[in-house]
Amino acid sequence: MSAPTSLFVRACRSQPVERTPVWFMRQAGRYMKEYRAIRKQYSLLEICKKPGLAAEVTITAAESLGVDAAIIFADLLLPLEVMGLGFHFEAGEGPVIDKPLRISEDVAGLRADRASELEYVSQAITLVAKHFGNKLPVIGFCGAPFTLASYMIEGGGSRHYLHTKKMMYNLPAAWNELMRKLVEVTAEFSAAQARAGADAIQIFDSWVGCLSVEDYRRFVLPHTAALVKRVQENGAPTIYFGTDTAALLPAINETGADVIGLDWRIPLDQGWKALDYRCAVQGNLDPVLLFVGWEELRLRTEHILQLAGGRPGHIFNLGHGILPETPVENVKNLARFLRERSFTPKRASAPGSATGPADSASSIR
Ligand code: CP3
Repeated sequence: MSAPTSLFVRACRSQPVERTPVWFMRQAGRYMKEYRAIRKQYSLLEICKKPGLAAEVTITAAESLGVDAAIIFADLLLPLEVMGLGFHFEAGEGPVIDKPLRISEDVAGLRADRASELEYVSQAITLVAKHFGNKLPVIGFCGAPFTLASYMIEGGGSRHYLHTKKMMYNLPAAWNELMRKLVEVTAEFSAAQARAGADAIQIFDSWVGCLSVEDYRRFVLPHTAALVKRVQENGAPTIYFGTDTAALLPAINETGADVIGLDWRIPLDQGWKALDYRCAVQGNLDPVLLFVGWEELRLRTEHILQLAGGRPGHIFNLGHGILPETPVENVKNLARFLRERSFTPKRASAPGSATGPADSASSIR
């Protein structure tokens, strides 16, 4: 760890902080002119694989936004390559996997012993950690087994996760083998990031919300919990993030992650309650609100802070990543607003006015 006493790391550990820390998923990306300029010269994968460039993109985004943590620039799908699945990005279409997994033999052929070949990510983390010292924490990340498996089996993004669920239901032995291999690779990959100086590891399970509670518990939770445990052995707090997870939260809580990400579909207080307040929470502004006027954006932001109610362990973020067309000024204004808002657990209120923390049943205004 490089910045163990930072606001962000303390909030991840549910310790009290002077103000709510903020960072944004996909804070380095196409909405930023500095990133677009680098992308004119290099492909996404080239940036990921050149530690100097990946570090530069990471640092530029964090510094220009004025956020409380820098997430390393990399991609969720990098481990696929060292497992033996080639892929590329197609303009406007996202990732395309060369030969998606469909049968047991495809899973049997996957390698789980080459996580060390992803060392370029750790090297980039070392550079970022060196640059920031203890001033700003660095977040490392990896994909969760379900979300990575969904790309490997579908061959790209998906709407119904038909092939993924078919493998889960029809070929449970192959499914479990795939989960185990993914846990092995991502655990080693995360350990290397932690050794390189990452202050927290975020596990992205972006698409897990497509599962029923029963299927999550049966086919995914044991593997995800095993991954969380292995990541925690490195000493850095673990953030588990998914979208559309309202119904899954009690099961997700059993992963034991230090921080759970909430998307905007569930009011923050209800999400935290569904987690029994066991852990810290991260979220949960709708990324589309970054396209609206400042007054609305500020009100919605304040509402989320009210729902957090001054309880230790809230990290402000979006409910999902920044969208490509987002006006960068809005992101900067929001980060500045949160930075300047010193944390007053409860302001003395006027006589007769409500004093308790707001709950989601009260209106935004
Ligand atoms: O947050 C950050 O600033 C760090 C960088 C980061 C990237 N990908 C770079 C990237 C992170 C954290 C990711 C994670 C990632 N990658 C996820 C999980 C997060 C989520 O949003 O749920 C997923 C599902 C992927 C796979 C992936 N990579 C997809 C589906 C796409 C295409 C979507 C698109 O926006 O075009 C990518 C491409 C990608 N990865 C970009 C960036 C900045 C797009 C920009 C580019 O092409 O240069």
